[in-house]
Amino acid sequence: MLEIRNLHVSVGDRKILQGLTLSVKAGEVAAIMGPNGTGKSTLSYVISGREGYDITEGEVLLDGENILALEPHERAAKGVFLAFQYPVEIPGVATMTFLKAAMNAQRRARGEEELATPDFMKRVKDAAASLGVSQDMLRRPLNSGFSGGEKKRMDILQMALLQPKLGILDETDSGLDIDALRVVADGVNALRAPERAFVVITHYQRLLEYIKPDTVHVMAKGRIQRSGGPELALELEKHGYQEYLAEEAA
Ligand SMILES: Nc1ncnc2c1ncn2[C@@H]1O[C@H](COP(=O)(O)OP(=O)(O)OP(=O)(O)O)[C@@H](O)[C@H]1O
Ligand SMILES: [Mg+2]
Repeated sequence: MLEIRNLHVSVGDRKILQGLTLSVKAGEVAAIMGPNGTGKSTLSYVISGREGYDITEGEVLLDGENILALEPHERAAKGVFLAFQYPVEIPGVATMTFLKAAMNAQRRARGEEELATPDFMKRVKDAAASLGVSQDMLRRPLNSGFSGGEKKRMDILQMALLQPKLGILDETDSGLDIDALRVVADGVNALRAPERAFVVITHYQRLLEYIKPDTVHVMAKGRIQRSGGPELALELEKHGYQEYLAEEAA
């Protein structure tokens, strides 16, 4: 489903991704772990199409199609969803208005009818109830004044409503209390499906106890250094990233 080949990305004259290759199959949950500043968030931004990054080499294929030339909204319409490490507040926009616009934009792009308001309301209410998003949060402007954990829940709510093909979660666990971590993980697990894939970026094995990954990838120095199964996350927890950061033998 997602094939990243030899991706090189710079910001200004700073090289961030340096030949990153990663393949995630449909139905798979892939975890990416790696030290601070190694380019994990950059990778998620580049996949979702945020501007400001120079892609100097390589390709990102979604179901065989190179998506690097597409606008962010076109990628979203194809089913790419990114839950940010730091969700943005949008003070002037009512949460419900935003959710409806996002859902209908995606439905239009898929050639589906827009949702009638009662149907939309029902979907939001059901998803909000299962994710512990209060009616009060739904009434406020998007993310504004939400606590860190509330923003993350709102992100997962958006994901549940949009039913993406590829969900990218950038440190969705940071700042969550234990109950919220469960809620978020349950939300992701409920969305797991043979036709859907997830890339979960995390620093902690703890999240992976709730969202069991199929594959674990160690990212360091702008590249995937090693791939394995869930046992790799346990090994990292024990030994850290030292061996991946050492200079290559000359
Ligand atoms: N717009 C930018 N301008 C300059 N440097 C940038 C920019 N975006 C990212 N970087 C640098 O690129 C490197 C990778 O950043 P990135 O946020 O992708 O790391 P990360 O792996 O997500 O780290 P963390 O685990 O702390 O979230 C960092 O050194 C960062 O300072
Ligand atoms: Mg990051």
